[in-house]
Amino acid sequence: MTKKSNNKINQSWGGRFKQPTDEFVKIFTASIFFDKILAPYDIQGSIAHATMLFEAGLLTKHEKEQIIAGLNQILSEVDGGQFNWSVALEDVHMNIESRLIEICGNIGKKLHTARSRNDQVATDIRLYLRDQVDIIATKIKHLQSVLLDLAETETNTILPGFTHLQAAQPISFAHHLMAYFAMLSRDAQRLSECRTRINTLPLGSAALAGTTYPINRERVAELLGFEHICSNSLDAVSDRDFAIEFLSVASMIMMHLSRFCEELILWSSAQFNFIELADNFCTGSSIMPQKKNPDVPELVRGKTARIYGNLNTLLTLMKGQALAYNKDNQEDKEPIFDSVDTLKACLSVFTDMLANIDLKRENMYNACKKGYTTATDLADYLVKKGLAFRTAHDVVGRCVAYSIEQKKDLSELSLEELQAFDNHIQNDVFDVLSLAGSLRARNHFGATAPNQVKQAIKTARKSLLQCG
Ligand code: ARG
Repeated sequence: MTKKSNNKINQSWGGRFKQPTDEFVKIFTASIFFDKILAPYDIQGSIAHATMLFEAGLLTKHEKEQIIAGLNQILSEVDGGQFNWSVALEDVHMNIESRLIEICGNIGKKLHTARSRNDQVATDIRLYLRDQVDIIATKIKHLQSVLLDLAETETNTILPGFTHLQAAQPISFAHHLMAYFAMLSRDAQRLSECRTRINTLPLGSAALAGTTYPINRERVAELLGFEHICSNSLDAVSDRDFAIEFLSVASMIMMHLSRFCEELILWSSAQFNFIELADNFCTGSSIMPQKKNPDVPELVRGKTARIYGNLNTLLTLMKGQALAYNKDNQEDKEPIFDSVDTLKACLSVFTDMLANIDLKRENMYNACKKGYTTATDLADYLVKKGLAFRTAHDVVGRCVAYSIEQKKDLSELSLEELQAFDNHIQNDVFDVLSLAGSLRARNHFGATAPNQVKQAIKTARKSLLQCG
């Protein structure tokens, strides 16, 4: 595969070389195949850098203007798809610089004063991630508002709440949805905290030790909208923990989506039959004509694995890396880009799918009727009549065993049948044994009573509006 190159020695850094780079090594070491998407950020960073160089007296006004005009021209070439990317030029930084030199001649050669590709690439990734974090935050909010729209009308829709995937206690569908709202709120919070650490400027660190020029890092930070400046040049060029943090937040978001997906898959099965996914979010089987497969939630659940994998890749990439920049770091990009694209796609498709589900409220209600889900309510009732909870638990346990034998729900037993287990039981027990009564009785902050959930939805709506 590897063969000697008869190409020229690299123009940008070839001064000390006698032999040109092997042709395959050129391809092997190049990142242009994937880092070209950083071009707008690279240009944005270069414009700020050139502005600062001028203000620091390191470029004349004319030179600065030429460089910025050249960079803007390159941006429109990139946007218009006319830019000619070259593998020989290795990466996005050298491609852009080399084109700038084509456009502005010797003036273009001055742009790289007081910087290195090491602080340049770290800046580019941070600018890129900052943008993406903002897009992702908006998508999370959109999903949250769809959840609220759905929850608003379902505070009296009863389904079994599960533990061990066994019907446990009645809850409202709105309450169930609001659990995901809460998870996503924490995700959004984590994302915004991680944004602060992303939004820190490495530029000015140059290769690793800083630079001998009188640069003004505060000014560059201001021009690029960075809230902070990296305080150690070695750390600034080599650190990728901001990206690892992003990937762990992304993993958590996907983990939450995957749980929801799992439930949608179960609920849309014939066995549960609680919901129906819209046709346009499902696919058929090539052999079984009756099938309508929940491919979208299955794929979102599956793609969670990719994000976890990417997080692991970056953690492993950074493990044991000596200071400062090592070429290993070039491997950070694909996992970051892939995670951003995957996460955005999953959030979008999941939100649209959720906005279009059909609820089968009667089936939810009937499933709840079947599972002796009000047994705890009966025990609580007996406690309120003076029994110790453990004693009440035992009484109700025997009552449930009897009901199973009789193939009846607790609420279908007669007062006499119930009184045979404990004579404290009176006519008022039947409200306690009803599903709606069970919901209503859990009437405190954080619980499933319809008025509590309505309040929770109101508060959630307000918080969503407040966060921008
Ligand atoms: N393409 C490189 C990367 O993505 C840019 C930095 C190159 N720096 C270096 N010292 N070779 O990491």
